Amino acid sequence: MIQFKLVLLGDSSVGKSSIVTRFVKDQFDINKESTIGAAFLSQTIKLLDSETNDEVAVKFEIWDTAGQERYKSLAPMYYRNSNAAIVVYDITDANSLSKAVKWVNELKEKLGDDNDCVISLIGNKLDLINEDETKRAISRREGEEFAIENGLYFHEVSAKENIGIKDIFQEIGESLYNQ
Ligand code: GTP
Ligand code: MG
Repeated sequence: MIQFKLVLLGDSSVGKSSIVTRFVKDQFDINKESTIGAAFLSQTIKLLDSETNDEVAVKFEIWDTAGQERYKSLAPMYYRNSNAAIVVYDITDANSLSKAVKWVNELKEKLGDDNDCVISLIGNKLDLINEDETKRAISRREGEEFAIENGLYFHEVSAKENIGIKDIFQEIGESLYNQ
């Protein structure tokens, strides 16, 4: 089976572990504990081979990194050799997009120009905005523009309400498989 190595990066508490837990276990925990070091999970999905139209299985080997500053130096160990990176921010947290931008820039710098790592920029906690629009701290356009300029996939999602989570991985899987 084809395997892809995927890493999640982003500030602490933006919801990286919650996105992975939703994708791998279809669970959500409102009191999720902050990750220590990093966590490893895997999940297999099915997708279509664009040439043969056959259904194929691909396995994601996922490194869910810890966003707290003290773990920052560990990150290169996890993003090195990654086929894909999901860089997460929290649309209700004004500072979290600039942290995400820093991660994207670090990835681009360290992985070099000839890498084919697929990067997705993900604004999480969409459910909070759907409840109360005044909680939005980062406009959709702001995230989207940075993504377009840098050739990233972009989505706003909710790990809590399971909005758009599977689609992130499906899109990455299809892109990598048909690369
Ligand atoms: P670190 O491990 O410290 O880097 O944080 P993290 O990015 O893994 O965040 P985590 O998944 O632990 O989530 C932080 C908090 O946000 C937890 O209380 C989650 O329950 C909450 N949370 C995560 N995703 C969502 C979401 O989509 N909506 C809402 N309302 N809360 C969320
Ligand atoms: Mg975590």
